[in-house]
Amino acid sequence: MSVAPDRLAAVTEEFPVLRRTVDGRPIVYLDSAATSQTPQVVIDAIVDYYTNHRGSVHRGVYDLITEATELYEGARERIAAWLNWEAEETIFTANATMSLNLVAQAWGHANLGPGDLVVLTEMEHHSNVVPWQQVCAQRGAEIAYIAVTDTGELDPGSVGALLDREPKVVAFTHVSNVLGTINPAAELARQAHAAGAVVVVDGTQAVPQIPVDLAVIDADFYAWTGHKVYGPTGVGVLHGRRALLEEMPPFHSGGHMISQVFTASSTWSELPGKFEAGTAPIAEAIGLGAAVDFVTGIGIDAIRAHEFALTAELLERLTDIDGVTVHGGVDPAARGALVSFGIEGAHPHDIGEILGRDGVCVRTGHHCAQPLMRRFGWGSTTRASFGVHNGPADIDRLIEGIHTVQRVLDL
Ligand SMILES: Cc1ncc(COP(=O)(O)O)c(C=O)c1O
Repeated sequence: MSVAPDRLAAVTEEFPVLRRTVDGRPIVYLDSAATSQTPQVVIDAIVDYYTNHRGSVHRGVYDLITEATELYEGARERIAAWLNWEAEETIFTANATMSLNLVAQAWGHANLGPGDLVVLTEMEHHSNVVPWQQVCAQRGAEIAYIAVTDTGELDPGSVGALLDREPKVVAFTHVSNVLGTINPAAELARQAHAAGAVVVVDGTQAVPQIPVDLAVIDADFYAWTGHKVYGPTGVGVLHGRRALLEEMPPFHSGGHMISQVFTASSTWSELPGKFEAGTAPIAEAIGLGAAVDFVTGIGIDAIRAHEFALTAELLERLTDIDGVTVHGGVDPAARGALVSFGIEGAHPHDIGEILGRDGVCVRTGHHCAQPLMRRFGWGSTTRASFGVHNGPADIDRLIEGIHTVQRVLDL
């Protein structure tokens, strides 16, 4: 994998917030899996829209609107091309949660019925669980979960047994936000299609961390969120297969998503407008386009290689500390750039607070994955996750902080 060493070496300087200090030392941001930080180019793109081009896209023909529309649709085209999908089958939403609700409510409500089966996995984020629970309750369908092994993979026996039941939907995460496990998305999609299911992939943790080629994965729907890919909050993406998007009803309704509105009924806009009701997240989508340019400028292969090296080092150093347990598998090749761990005798909340006092930012809690927490008997965990701006010195600070936790709590 080619690395852009000069750009990577200096990339921290592109993130204004990382200039913040705690007790004279720079903050160590190890929480990109919760939300990434924002490079200056993304901030600049948003400011440029508000300063020079603000207009309501697709709502007129004067210069400001034409420019805003070009920026907004240009962002869509670059985002779709980056992941190898068609722009018209690429819908802007508010976040991954809304993308998954769109699929569950628009496709699921129209296609699920009593006795139908929806297959999820035990490692899903709540946003790929609760929307399915809602639609299954509405339509009388059933949910079953693919089991997770003790080392944090999807159990192939459980996959086979559930596919034998010919589910209508198989929905799974590409990369686990707790265990880091990279699921074999293309292979799972192939098996699920062979069983006759519609395949929905939550790509939220994959898109920022590993190369994603949607044509290879070949899912029916692929959802992700902008704020974990160096983009702003308030914008997410749903890629869908044209035939399904065309046949399913709209999710939200109102302005922009229509073709004709009569007093008694309406017809729908062409894709992707049919699924973009109301005024779009214009600045946010433009910001996300700039974030994708930032990522492609460095190269997702280079980012993966950089974060892979950091993850491998962190796994090795954590497993060397007495009283520290790494959750999930320890092969960095099978993981995204995040590691959940526990410190014997320490509550994750205390760990997070003591690390935070030293300027080390990590996520603690149930990570919006309570079924997985119950599966492993964890109340909560501590998670360190990497972004492109991290380096080995950040791992030193985390390890130093873990020793501080053990000393302060007298462990
Ligand atoms: C795997 C996964 N899916 C979905 C989400 C939800 O993302 P959002 O809150 O931006 O909708 C997250 C966020 O943590 C996640 O990690």
